[in-house]
Amino acid sequence: MPLKRKIKELQKRRQEVLLGGGEKAIEKQIAMGKLTARERIRKILDDDSFHEYDLFVEHEARDFNMDKKILHGDGVIIGTGTIYGEPVCIFAQDFTVAGGSLGMMHARKITKIMDHALKMRMPLIGINDSGGARIQEGVNSLAGYGEIFFRNTLSSGVIPQISVILGPCAGGAVYSPALTDFVFVVDKISKMFITGPEVIKTVLGEEISMEDLGGAHVHSEISGNAHFYAESEEECFEQIKKLITFIPRNNTHKPRTFETREPKNEFQIEKIVPGDPTQPYDVRDVVRAIVDDSDFFEIQEKWARNLVIGFGRMGGRTVGFVCNQPLVLAGVLDVDSSDKAARFIRYCDAFNIPIVTLVDLPGYLPGADQEHAGVIRHGAKVLYAYSEATVPKMTVILRKAYGGGYIAMSSRHLRADFVFAWPTAEIAVMGPEGAANIIFRKEISEAKDPEKMRKQKVREYKEKFANPYVAAAKGYIDSVIEPEETRKLLLHAIEVSASKAISGPKKKHGVPPF
Ligand code: HXC
Repeated sequence: MPLKRKIKELQKRRQEVLLGGGEKAIEKQIAMGKLTARERIRKILDDDSFHEYDLFVEHEARDFNMDKKILHGDGVIIGTGTIYGEPVCIFAQDFTVAGGSLGMMHARKITKIMDHALKMRMPLIGINDSGGARIQEGVNSLAGYGEIFFRNTLSSGVIPQISVILGPCAGGAVYSPALTDFVFVVDKISKMFITGPEVIKTVLGEEISMEDLGGAHVHSEISGNAHFYAESEEECFEQIKKLITFIPRNNTHKPRTFETREPKNEFQIEKIVPGDPTQPYDVRDVVRAIVDDSDFFEIQEKWARNLVIGFGRMGGRTVGFVCNQPLVLAGVLDVDSSDKAARFIRYCDAFNIPIVTLVDLPGYLPGADQEHAGVIRHGAKVLYAYSEATVPKMTVILRKAYGGGYIAMSSRHLRADFVFAWPTAEIAVMGPEGAANIIFRKEISEAKDPEKMRKQKVREYKEKFANPYVAAAKGYIDSVIEPEETRKLLLHAIEVSASKAISGPKKKHGVPPF
């Protein structure tokens, strides 16, 4: 056959496969408000940068009439491309082909691109839109999931792994995203659950919609499974691209650096934190007052809001922020916020991102609910993550740093490299009111005017402990600084920590309180 005809044949074959599940299925996909798998890839990657592999892979299933079915690309698209010039591996399940269900060859395509990402040490982006294990392929589908989970774990901490939920992600399939670093969801489109509404109705006799069970709101606000929420697929793709600019290609690289930009004038650091320690404020404004261009990229914005995490840049370098949020529950650490902090600290540590911690909290949240939910076990994760992290750790105590909260929030004792405190900082075993009530109980109850005595004792306690100078006198704090000096000192601390190198005792791995 002459070359020209061979090329024509290739083009025809390509054309057929590129139609996915056919026009009708594509129409259905669009009617559901979803983009097609290839459109999604094209929109995430730089123009014309996508190169697809395994276009002609076919399934090998024979049971349940599968031998008569052609499933183009076996329902998943894999390839490589770039985002702002950074190389990435990507796969997207194609719901128009057998509901994007995962059969053996489908799984092999995914694991092939996962292996490639790990071998080439570049980020992996997975777009999930699938009915789960392909029922006709039985145990081969389950094996496929197992192979994916294993690779997710192997790649963890080596390359960034990003999951995008753009359709159903049902049954065991949810565990691949759960093993990755960042999960993106989109309003009305993402549906993520272990057991669907049908099963719940059969087993529990309860009716629940897919949306209420595992929609985008559920995972970004209640379960904490999602890290980024978007109103539309387009918004989600912009978030993914932005994330890529903050993180490194792999664990041996540092994130890309950008030009330094000054924070915007509207964020005046000395005006954000009220002098009265009982008054709330939005700690994100403090972050915006110190990061380049006041650009703070928040993660898990809607979940465990008493703690704020995210990326910003200082002097053009990526920094991970972990901050108590006095606006919500006075910024206490509880079960969820401890999980949120600990995982993010470990992410930053794995990917060479310095951590800045802004402290203002009355401690761990008291109460039977929290105790029974395991606040001891979850709270311990924060201590573990900070202690274990070897990236540069900078701490700024803005106001309250009481009790276990003081220790947990990247204190000197957990090996913070730089600890700064504002003059408004109060570092004590507990708040002045509670402390005075306990240690001066006798004096107060026996006084002629107990209330007057109580106030006097609170004042005495405050004068003695509710300030940064006792801790500064012991060297637990390196400098007591004016709020306006915060950015300058942090920039310097980041600069001089650039070649930090420490190592702990040799071990296979620790046993964190997972
Ligand atoms: C084979 C599947 C499939 C599956 C969907 N399809 N899911 N084929 N295996 N798991 C097919 C449908 O038969 C249909 O084919 C096409 O995909 C589109 O599906 P629809 O049902 O028409 O779409 P929709 O109405 O949008 O509903 C989507 C859905 C539903 C909610 C995802 O299809 C569904 O409930 N699927 C089953 C979900 C599930 O229980 N999966 C197994 C989970 S167990 P045709 O030919 O008609 O177009 C699991 C275990 C993994 O995943 C364990 C790993 C550890």
